[in-house]
This record gives sequence, C-alpha cells and structure tokens, in this order.
Amino acid sequence: MQRIRLNLNQLEETLLITLWAKALDSKLPVPMLGDTHSAEIADRIDYDFSTLKIKDSLTYETALRSRMLDDAVRSFTTAHPNAVVVDLGCGLDPRMIRCHPPAGIDWYDVDFPEVVALRPQFLPESTHLIGADITDPDWPADIPRDRPAIIIAEGLIPFLPSDSFQLLTRTLTTHFTTGEIALNGYTRFAAWAMKYHPTIKALGIKAATGFDDPRIPETWNTGLTLIDEDFLTRAPQIAAWPQPLRALTRAMSHSTTLSRQGARILRYHF
Ligand SMILES: C[S@@+](CC[C@H](N)C(=O)[O-])C[C@H]1O[C@@H](n2cnc3c(N)ncnc32)[C@H](O)[C@@H]1O
Repeated sequence: MQRIRLNLNQLEETLLITLWAKALDSKLPVPMLGDTHSAEIADRIDYDFSTLKIKDSLTYETALRSRMLDDAVRSFTTAHPNAVVVDLGCGLDPRMIRCHPPAGIDWYDVDFPEVVALRPQFLPESTHLIGADITDPDWPADIPRDRPAIIIAEGLIPFLPSDSFQLLTRTLTTHFTTGEIALNGYTRFAAWAMKYHPTIKALGIKAATGFDDPRIPETWNTGLTLIDEDFLTRAPQIAAWPQPLRALTRAMSHSTTLSRQGARILRYHF
C-alpha cells in the first residue's frame, strides 16, 4: 500500500494526536469508541506515530470524550432531523461515519484549507468541506443560517489564541438562528499544563487559555446558556478502564474541582 506523506504545519499536525489515539482505542480489547476508520486512515499515512508518545491515559480519554461528543450529535440530530452539523477543527476525524446522521442532515467539516484538502483522499464520503481559519469571522458564510445547528469542537479550544474562542462563539451565535455548541472544555490550569504535555511539546505547540467556571461563556453576551457539564471521571464507561487508571479516575470523580481539571464535555444552547 502506497502511504501518503502529509505536508502540514505544527498546528495542523495536532490532528495526528487525536487520529492516533482513536486508532489505538479501536485496537483495545474493550474499545471506548471503536473507530476502525481512524485506524485505517492512520495506516495510510506515512508518519512515525510513535514520536507522538501517546500515553494510555490519553488514548482512553480521547476515545471517551469523542464518544460523548458523538452522543451529543446523535441526540441533537434525532431531535432535529433537518439540522446542520458543523465539526470545527475536524482534522481527519470520521465523525459523520460514526454518527450516521439522518438523511435530512447537512454536515460541514471545517479546518485549515491544507487539512480539508486531505479529507477526500482518506474520507471519500461526502460532507461539505470548508477550508478556513475559524478565527476569521466570515468562514460560516456558505452554511445555511435558518436551520438548527449543532457545532462540535473537539480538541480545538486550547489551540485558539487568547480570546478567539469568545469571538468564535459570537460568530456562531450571530450566524445561526438557534442550536447547540458542544466541546471538550479545558480549565486555565489544563490549558497551561498542556504545553508541558510530551505530545504537545514534541510538536512545539504553544497552547492557549482555558476557563474554569463553565458558566463563564454565559457572561460573554453571545447568547450562550449552559446545558450541562459532563465529567469524564463520572462516566459509566470508566468501569472498563484498566487499573490503576480506573482507580485514579474514580478517586478524582468525588471532587468537582479535580474532575474539572480532567476532560469534561460542555454543551451550550443558543
Ligand atoms: C487536536 S486536532 C483535533 C482534530 C479533530 N477534531 C479530532 O478530534 O480528531 C485540532 C484541529 O484543529 C485545527 N485547528 C486549530 N486551529 C484552527 C483554526 N484557527 N482554524 C481552523 N482549524 C484549526 C487543526 O488544524 C487540527 O486539525
């Protein structure tokens, strides 16, 4: 098999972290996500994934948070079968295949132009592709405004400089009439600590800021209302995690402050 060499910058290369974590999960005896498409995509890329130094904990966490975000997409698209789904910073994630949305859904995958240009080679299924820097407020221009929208941002927020996530929420709530934003949130500490993460360090990425209180986005006057904050530490799937990760995660689950430092899924209505 001819493997494809990618020509991406460091920020774009972060897609390899999540892709590889999902690929590793799919090979576990009890996968959290079971995304064999990510494994097939990774097999076709000419890259030494071992240089990412992905720890088991990151594999489990990434797969579970992705599953929780997929669940958010499934429940929104079941309730709104004419919705648009927007996957921001989609990388090479085959989320639409995993979610298998109703036929009336229009799915938009958004990332830098160099990244979305790769998707047809690896993911021939048809989603609408938008190649843009999402800190540019004009990127949603081609997406219908008048349908309910669910916007997913997985693994994206820490790479957005300073207040650009706040500006992004304004762009979204100005463009779309109604909908939901679902993302994995990072506290200020978690965002700061990311720059010491071996994988992020290996890629030379400077992580941006996070927020602790999930209600902070409600104060930005962008029309967001918190729906819920779900901690991975309290997810039932933790029961299938190996020891000592399971015991450590269970111990963390008793404290909201500690749970917040781990992965959490935040959903906002607008
Ligand atoms: C860690 S990867 C996550 C990829 C995907 N969401 C997943 O879960 O597999 C972060 C992605 O965000 C994209 N990204 C970061 N900043 C962006 C920006 N300003 N505009 C568009 N895409 C961006 C990167 O190119 C990369 O594909």
